[in-house]
Amino acid sequence: MSETHSNPLDDPNANPFEVAADAAADIARLTGVEKHDIALTLGSGWGKAADIIGETTATIPATEVTGFSKPALEGHVGTLRSIRTPDGKNVLVIGARTHYYEGHGVRRVVHSVRTAAATGAEIMVLTNGAGGVRETWTPGQPVLISDHINLTADSPLEGATFIDLTDLYSQRLRDIARGVDPSLDEGVYTQFRGPHYETPAEVQMAKHIGGHIVGMSTALEAIAAREAGMEILGFSLITNLAAGIQKTPLSHAEVIEAGREAEPVISALLARVVEAL
Ligand code: HPA
Repeated sequence: MSETHSNPLDDPNANPFEVAADAAADIARLTGVEKHDIALTLGSGWGKAADIIGETTATIPATEVTGFSKPALEGHVGTLRSIRTPDGKNVLVIGARTHYYEGHGVRRVVHSVRTAAATGAEIMVLTNGAGGVRETWTPGQPVLISDHINLTADSPLEGATFIDLTDLYSQRLRDIARGVDPSLDEGVYTQFRGPHYETPAEVQMAKHIGGHIVGMSTALEAIAAREAGMEILGFSLITNLAAGIQKTPLSHAEVIEAGREAEPVISALLARVVEAL
Protein backbone atom coordinates (compact mmCIF):
# COMPACT_ATOMS: atom_id res chain seq x y z
CA MET A 1 0.00 0.00 0.00
CA SER A 2 1.78 3.15 -1.11
CA GLU A 3 1.04 6.65 0.12
CA THR A 4 2.76 9.81 -1.00
CA HIS A 5 2.80 11.41 2.46
CA SER A 6 3.84 9.50 5.51
CA ASN A 7 1.42 9.73 8.37
CA PRO A 8 2.77 10.77 11.78
CA LEU A 9 0.36 8.35 13.43
CA ASP A 10 2.28 5.48 11.87
CA ASP A 11 5.17 6.30 14.17
CA PRO A 12 4.52 4.19 17.28
CA ASN A 13 6.34 6.79 19.40
CA ALA A 14 4.01 9.59 18.32
CA ASN A 15 1.57 10.91 20.90
CA PRO A 16 -1.86 10.70 19.18
CA PHE A 17 -3.19 13.63 21.19
CA GLU A 18 -0.31 15.84 20.04
CA VAL A 19 -0.98 14.77 16.45
CA ALA A 20 -4.66 15.68 16.97
CA ALA A 21 -3.63 19.07 18.41
CA ASP A 22 -1.47 19.67 15.32
CA ALA A 23 -4.42 18.69 13.10
CA ALA A 24 -6.70 21.10 14.98
CA ALA A 25 -4.14 23.88 14.47
CA ASP A 26 -4.13 23.07 10.73
CA ILE A 27 -7.92 23.31 10.70
CA ALA A 28 -7.92 26.65 12.55
CA ARG A 29 -5.34 28.02 10.12
CA LEU A 30 -7.05 26.70 6.97
CA THR A 31 -10.61 27.62 7.98
CA GLY A 32 -9.93 30.78 9.95
CA VAL A 33 -12.22 29.38 12.66
CA GLU A 34 -10.53 29.22 16.07
CA LYS A 35 -13.12 27.05 17.76
CA HIS A 36 -15.68 24.60 16.44
CA ASP A 37 -18.69 23.81 18.60
CA ILE A 38 -20.07 20.64 17.03
CA ALA A 39 -18.40 17.99 14.88
CA LEU A 40 -20.22 15.73 12.45
CA THR A 41 -18.88 12.61 10.83
CA LEU A 42 -20.96 11.90 7.77
CA GLY A 43 -21.20 8.25 6.75
CA SER A 44 -22.89 6.67 3.71
CA GLY A 45 -26.07 8.51 2.84
CA TRP A 46 -25.56 11.46 5.16
CA GLY A 47 -23.30 13.63 2.99
CA LYS A 48 -25.89 16.12 1.77
CA ALA A 49 -26.49 17.37 5.32
CA ALA A 50 -23.34 19.44 4.92
CA ASP A 51 -25.05 21.47 2.20
CA ILE A 52 -28.07 22.43 4.27
CA ILE A 53 -27.00 22.96 7.87
CA GLY A 54 -25.62 26.38 7.15
CA GLU A 55 -23.12 28.37 5.16
CA THR A 56 -19.89 26.59 4.27
CA THR A 57 -17.09 29.00 5.12
CA ALA A 58 -14.19 26.69 4.20
CA THR A 59 -13.63 23.33 2.54
CA ILE A 60 -10.29 21.63 2.96
CA PRO A 61 -9.00 18.36 1.53
CA ALA A 62 -8.41 16.00 4.44
CA THR A 63 -4.93 15.37 3.08
CA GLU A 64 -3.98 18.95 4.08
CA VAL A 65 -4.61 18.12 7.72
CA THR A 66 -2.02 16.35 9.86
CA GLY A 67 -2.68 12.66 10.37
CA PHE A 68 -5.62 12.20 8.02
CA SER A 69 -5.55 9.25 5.66
CA LYS A 70 -6.84 9.28 2.14
CA PRO A 71 -10.43 8.02 1.88
CA ALA A 72 -10.48 4.32 1.05
CA LEU A 73 -13.80 4.13 -0.64
CA GLU A 74 -15.74 5.67 -3.43
CA GLY A 75 -18.74 7.38 -1.84
CA HIS A 76 -16.69 8.66 1.09
CA VAL A 77 -15.64 12.25 0.44
CA GLY A 78 -12.23 13.21 1.69
CA THR A 79 -12.90 16.74 2.84
CA LEU A 80 -13.35 18.69 6.03
CA ARG A 81 -15.79 21.58 5.99
CA SER A 82 -16.37 24.41 8.37
CA ILE A 83 -20.00 25.48 8.41
CA ARG A 84 -21.67 28.38 10.20
CA THR A 85 -25.25 27.63 11.23
CA PRO A 86 -27.93 30.35 11.08
CA ASP A 87 -27.71 30.72 14.87
CA GLY A 88 -23.94 31.17 14.75
CA LYS A 89 -22.58 27.74 15.73
CA ASN A 90 -19.42 26.55 14.02
CA VAL A 91 -19.80 22.99 12.79
CA LEU A 92 -16.87 20.89 11.62
CA VAL A 93 -18.05 18.36 9.06
CA ILE A 94 -15.74 15.41 8.67
CA GLY A 95 -16.25 13.70 5.34
CA ALA A 96 -13.12 11.59 5.66
CA ARG A 97 -13.52 8.50 7.77
CA THR A 98 -10.82 5.91 8.21
CA HIS A 99 -12.37 2.51 8.79
CA TYR A 100 -10.91 -0.13 11.04
CA TYR A 101 -10.93 -2.63 8.17
CA GLU A 102 -8.42 -0.52 6.27
CA GLY A 103 -5.83 -1.98 8.58
CA HIS A 104 -4.02 1.26 9.51
CA GLY A 105 -4.64 0.75 13.20
CA VAL A 106 -7.11 2.19 15.64
CA ARG A 107 -5.18 5.45 16.15
CA ARG A 108 -5.93 6.42 12.58
CA VAL A 109 -9.56 5.34 12.95
CA VAL A 110 -10.17 7.76 15.84
CA HIS A 111 -7.89 10.57 14.73
CA SER A 112 -10.78 12.60 13.28
CA VAL A 113 -12.66 12.40 16.56
CA ARG A 114 -9.63 13.40 18.61
CA THR A 115 -9.03 16.24 16.18
CA ALA A 116 -12.64 17.37 16.51
CA ALA A 117 -12.24 17.49 20.28
CA ALA A 118 -9.00 19.44 19.88
CA THR A 119 -10.83 22.04 17.74
CA GLY A 120 -13.04 22.68 20.75
CA ALA A 121 -16.11 20.66 19.77
CA GLU A 122 -18.17 19.54 22.74
CA ILE A 123 -20.64 17.47 20.75
CA MET A 124 -19.69 14.69 18.33
CA VAL A 125 -22.36 13.50 15.94
CA LEU A 126 -21.46 10.14 14.40
CA THR A 127 -23.45 8.84 11.44
CA ASN A 128 -23.18 5.71 9.35
CA GLY A 129 -24.93 3.41 6.93
CA ALA A 130 -25.60 0.02 8.49
CA GLY A 131 -27.58 -3.21 8.37
CA GLY A 132 -30.81 -3.59 10.32
CA VAL A 133 -31.42 -6.63 12.50
CA ARG A 134 -35.02 -5.69 13.32
CA GLU A 135 -37.39 -7.08 10.69
CA THR A 136 -39.71 -4.12 11.19
CA TRP A 137 -37.13 -1.65 9.91
CA THR A 138 -36.97 -0.77 6.24
CA PRO A 139 -34.04 0.31 4.10
CA GLY A 140 -33.83 4.08 3.99
CA GLN A 141 -34.89 4.48 7.62
CA PRO A 142 -32.70 6.50 10.00
CA VAL A 143 -32.43 5.25 13.60
CA LEU A 144 -30.77 6.62 16.69
CA ILE A 145 -27.95 4.66 18.28
CA SER A 146 -28.80 4.02 21.93
CA ASP A 147 -25.69 2.02 22.86
CA HIS A 148 -23.12 -0.20 21.22
CA ILE A 149 -21.43 -3.57 21.32
CA ASN A 150 -17.83 -3.41 20.17
CA LEU A 151 -16.91 -6.68 18.46
CA THR A 152 -13.61 -5.49 17.04
CA ALA A 153 -11.70 -6.81 20.07
CA ASP A 154 -9.82 -3.51 20.00
CA SER A 155 -9.96 -0.17 21.80
CA PRO A 156 -8.70 3.32 21.03
CA LEU A 157 -7.66 3.67 24.66
CA GLU A 158 -4.05 2.94 25.41
CA GLY A 159 -2.67 1.75 28.70
CA ALA A 160 -4.68 1.65 31.89
CA THR A 161 -7.21 4.27 30.75
CA PHE A 162 -10.48 3.39 32.40
CA ILE A 163 -13.34 5.35 30.87
CA ASP A 164 -16.99 5.07 31.88
CA LEU A 165 -19.25 4.29 28.92
CA THR A 166 -22.61 4.51 30.70
CA ASP A 167 -24.83 6.85 28.65
CA LEU A 168 -22.17 6.87 25.91
CA TYR A 169 -24.81 7.87 23.37
CA SER A 170 -26.22 10.76 25.35
CA GLN A 171 -29.85 10.45 26.43
CA ARG A 172 -30.03 14.24 26.43
CA LEU A 173 -29.03 14.44 22.77
CA ARG A 174 -31.32 11.55 21.80
CA ASP A 175 -34.19 13.41 23.44
CA ILE A 176 -33.34 16.50 21.40
CA ALA A 177 -33.33 14.39 18.20
CA ARG A 178 -36.72 12.90 19.14
CA GLY A 179 -38.00 16.41 19.75
CA VAL A 180 -37.25 17.04 16.07
CA ASP A 181 -38.64 13.71 14.85
CA PRO A 182 -40.74 11.81 17.42
CA SER A 183 -40.96 8.80 15.07
CA LEU A 184 -37.22 8.04 15.37
CA ASP A 185 -36.62 4.50 16.58
CA GLU A 186 -33.37 3.52 18.28
CA GLY A 187 -31.17 0.48 18.68
CA VAL A 188 -27.88 -0.97 19.80
CA TYR A 189 -25.12 -0.67 17.19
CA THR A 190 -22.83 -3.65 16.85
CA GLN A 191 -19.46 -2.91 15.30
CA PHE A 192 -17.93 -5.80 13.40
CA ARG A 193 -14.46 -5.63 12.01
CA GLY A 194 -15.45 -6.05 8.34
CA PRO A 195 -14.88 -5.45 5.49
CA HIS A 196 -16.87 -8.59 4.73
CA TYR A 197 -20.52 -8.34 5.64
CA GLU A 198 -21.67 -10.58 8.46
CA THR A 199 -22.80 -14.14 7.97
CA PRO A 200 -26.44 -14.85 8.86
CA ALA A 201 -25.15 -16.72 11.92
CA GLU A 202 -23.18 -13.67 13.04
CA VAL A 203 -26.27 -11.53 12.61
CA GLN A 204 -28.21 -13.99 14.81
CA MET A 205 -25.40 -13.77 17.37
CA ALA A 206 -25.61 -9.97 17.30
CA LYS A 207 -29.35 -10.23 17.83
CA HIS A 208 -28.99 -12.65 20.75
CA ILE A 209 -26.47 -10.48 22.54
CA GLY A 210 -28.68 -7.42 22.20
CA GLY A 211 -27.63 -5.81 18.91
CA HIS A 212 -30.15 -4.23 16.54
CA ILE A 213 -27.83 -2.60 14.00
CA VAL A 214 -24.72 -4.10 12.38
CA GLY A 215 -21.92 -2.06 10.89
CA MET A 216 -18.21 -1.47 10.54
CA SER A 217 -17.60 1.90 12.18
CA THR A 218 -18.69 4.25 14.97
CA ALA A 219 -18.14 2.26 18.21
CA LEU A 220 -14.38 2.83 18.36
CA GLU A 221 -14.91 6.49 17.44
CA ALA A 222 -17.53 6.90 20.15
CA ILE A 223 -15.16 5.51 22.79
CA ALA A 224 -12.46 7.97 21.75
CA ALA A 225 -14.96 10.82 21.71
CA ARG A 226 -16.02 10.01 25.25
CA GLU A 227 -12.39 9.76 26.35
CA ALA A 228 -11.94 13.26 24.89
CA GLY A 229 -14.90 14.47 26.96
CA MET A 230 -17.39 14.97 24.16
CA GLU A 231 -21.11 14.28 24.28
CA ILE A 232 -22.12 11.85 21.54
CA LEU A 233 -25.12 11.55 19.25
CA GLY A 234 -25.22 8.55 16.89
CA PHE A 235 -27.39 7.91 13.86
CA SER A 236 -27.53 4.89 11.57
CA LEU A 237 -29.16 4.90 8.20
CA ILE A 238 -30.52 1.38 7.70
CA THR A 239 -29.34 0.75 4.14
CA ASN A 240 -30.36 -2.92 4.12
CA LEU A 241 -31.68 -5.57 6.43
CA ALA A 242 -28.73 -7.57 7.77
CA ALA A 243 -27.57 -10.81 6.15
CA GLY A 244 -30.10 -13.61 6.59
CA ILE A 245 -32.80 -11.19 7.77
CA GLN A 246 -32.95 -9.93 4.23
CA LYS A 247 -33.28 -12.99 1.99
CA THR A 248 -31.28 -11.58 -0.94
CA PRO A 249 -27.48 -11.25 -0.90
CA LEU A 250 -25.94 -7.97 0.27
CA SER A 251 -23.97 -5.75 -2.07
CA HIS A 252 -22.00 -2.56 -1.64
CA ALA A 253 -23.86 -1.14 -4.64
CA GLU A 254 -27.18 -1.73 -2.87
CA VAL A 255 -25.86 -0.01 0.26
CA ILE A 256 -24.70 3.03 -1.73
CA GLU A 257 -27.97 3.17 -3.67
CA ALA A 258 -30.07 3.05 -0.49
CA GLY A 259 -27.94 5.86 0.89
CA ARG A 260 -28.43 7.91 -2.25
CA GLU A 261 -32.21 7.49 -2.17
CA ALA A 262 -32.55 8.32 1.52
CA GLU A 263 -30.04 11.17 1.43
CA PRO A 264 -32.40 14.14 0.94
CA VAL A 265 -34.71 13.08 3.77
CA ILE A 266 -32.12 12.06 6.34
CA SER A 267 -29.89 15.03 5.56
CA ALA A 268 -32.79 17.39 6.20
CA LEU A 269 -33.47 15.55 9.46
CA LEU A 270 -29.85 15.82 10.53
CA ALA A 271 -29.75 19.52 9.69
CA ARG A 272 -32.81 20.12 11.88
CA VAL A 273 -31.27 18.13 14.71
CA VAL A 274 -28.01 20.09 14.50
CA GLU A 275 -30.02 23.29 14.63
CA ALA A 276 -31.68 22.05 17.82
CA LEU A 277 -28.45 21.05 19.58
N1 HPA B 1 -23.38 -4.96 7.74
C1 HPA B 1 -22.28 -4.23 8.03
N2 HPA B 1 -22.06 -3.03 7.56
C2 HPA B 1 -23.00 -2.49 6.75
C3 HPA B 1 -24.17 -3.18 6.41
C4 HPA B 1 -24.37 -4.49 6.94
O1 HPA B 1 -25.39 -5.16 6.69
N3 HPA B 1 -24.88 -2.37 5.58
C5 HPA B 1 -24.16 -1.23 5.46
N4 HPA B 1 -23.01 -1.29 6.15
